[in-house]
Amino acid sequence: MTACGPPHRFMSADHRRLDALLARATVDAAAIDLAPFGEFRAGLIRHIGMEEKVLFPAAGRARGASLPLAARLRVDHGAIVALLVPTPTPVIVARLLSVLGPHDRREEDPGGVYDACDEAVGPVEAERLVDELRRFPAVPVKPYNDGPAVEKHIEETLELSRRQWRAKEPAPAKRRPPRPCSIDPSAPAYWRLLACAASSLTRSDWTIRLKAELIVP
Ligand SMILES: [Fe+2]
Repeated sequence: MTACGPPHRFMSADHRRLDALLARATVDAAAIDLAPFGEFRAGLIRHIGMEEKVLFPAAGRARGASLPLAARLRVDHGAIVALLVPTPTPVIVARLLSVLGPHDRREEDPGGVYDACDEAVGPVEAERLVDELRRFPAVPVKPYNDGPAVEKHIEETLELSRRQWRAKEPAPAKRRPPRPCSIDPSAPAYWRLLACAASSLTRSDWTIRLKAELIVP
């Protein structure tokens, strides 16, 4: 088995740090502790930012083409961030874990995306890359938003995430083929979704931007 390279180790360690924060937030399964959850929320958004803005683009540049799973992981990120918008409840945390668990495994498992990043950038660039990841700034997050549009966006982004992974499996004979994901992976829509949680957009801007940029009829 090949040892993990520095980017893999760095990103996996950040997963463990986030796992620990979520575990602290859910010690009482019936009542989320908002202090550690807030740290988890901000940390996860920053982690996703590191992947979207630094790690995946660097690996893509080094190999001359996007990582094969990058577009799908970006769609997962959309669902994950949508689930970080409302005040957390045990149900929301369970839904978050239903995406985050498989997502993290696709990144960390042998032959997964972090291995592909290690392989693409090579040992010298890897050290510089980890340094850049370490310096990635905290993302300022907005307060929780429990508005009526939020649940709908959660449903839609979760469905996009689930559908794209189902699409990879061989379809049973009678099942209709899944529709292709409606997010254009080349568009900067994902980062704008992060901005929904992170920027100074008003709630109505937030909704309009989501509809205009993420939900393609
Ligand atoms: Fe990720």
